Amino acid sequence: MNKNSEKNSAQNIDKVLNSALTELSATKTLDSLDEWRIRYLGRKGIVVQLKRSISDLPSTERPEFGQTINSASTLLEEKLIDQHTKILSRNSINHTESIDVTLPGVPINNGSLHPITQTIRDICEAFTSMGFEIIEGPEVELDYYNFQMLNIPKHHPARDGFNTLWIDHEDANGERPMLLRTHTSPMQIRTMEKQDPPIRLVVPGKVYRYEATDSSHEWHFSQIEGLAVDKGITFANLKGTLYEFARRLFGEDVKVRFRCDYFPFVEPGAEMAIDWNSRTKDTEGENWVEILGAGMVHPKVLKAVGYDTEKYTGFAFGIGVERIAMLRNGIDDIRLFYNNDVRFLGQF
Ligand code: FA5
Repeated sequence: MNKNSEKNSAQNIDKVLNSALTELSATKTLDSLDEWRIRYLGRKGIVVQLKRSISDLPSTERPEFGQTINSASTLLEEKLIDQHTKILSRNSINHTESIDVTLPGVPINNGSLHPITQTIRDICEAFTSMGFEIIEGPEVELDYYNFQMLNIPKHHPARDGFNTLWIDHEDANGERPMLLRTHTSPMQIRTMEKQDPPIRLVVPGKVYRYEATDSSHEWHFSQIEGLAVDKGITFANLKGTLYEFARRLFGEDVKVRFRCDYFPFVEPGAEMAIDWNSRTKDTEGENWVEILGAGMVHPKVLKAVGYDTEKYTGFAFGIGVERIAMLRNGIDDIRLFYNNDVRFLGQF
């Protein structure tokens, strides 16, 4: 027997095993147990070193040595688990005896509404408190309601402004009659077809456009349509209603601007912008942000649904919800709303 084989003999393994087991049964805490584990079973531990030393042995002694060290290692691993269970059960009894009920609890993170849902609710609340009713409509819509009945016949240039996602379905004439609605305005027609004035409603919902996205444009976003039809409704009623909406959402001091705009289904048409600096007072000057399109319902649209245009007039508007949520929350990129990143959504 050479020097190496003396050092690596099966008796030596027995010695190591015995002292390991004695030390193991003396461990009382998880920390001391971990120290033991590192010393004996860790990557640089005694057992691993013994296993490595097999290469120093003559080949005739290696099989016996290998078997002995492997069974010692398995035994130590089993005993480690037993000791771990013992320490845990001892600690758990101590815990129940020593709970300090005056300590503060662990905070639980609550979920919250998506910022767009919150904004839709706030906008709807502003209008319901002014006597508007909330309704909803289909996202898969007919060309008939999305365009034709809104005074946008086939081949009308205004269609170019609404980059449309068409549903892949052809009718008997080989035409595609269905699309993902490009705005919430089709609900004006669907309602007026069924109901006589007076009408005061808002329609929240998703809309879709085949558009490249950037910091202020999404290919899917939310709008809130508004429609009021009655005897004697004027542009002054439209302005008054939208001023009031802006004040309720952005505060008393907010500055609002109306400018002419064109939509085939209203006459006259307008866009409303708010001066963001009038609210934040961060910087000098003005910072106008367009938030909606609006106007007096076009007489052609009222006639198409069978209303008497001598008797009734109306106004309509379409609000971009994401733009409002961006302004209210100081967000400079619309795409953040739909990335589903909890680090962003968790702030609301
Ligand atoms: C319309 O969609 C008209 N239906 C609005 C309307 C209704 C006019 C009733 C008259 C009467 P417009 O395409 O401008 O209009 O969109 C309305 C608002 O939606 C815009 O002011 C803007 O706030 C928002 N918006 C438009 N395109 C996008 C987009 N790609 N991403 C996010 N928001 C958008």
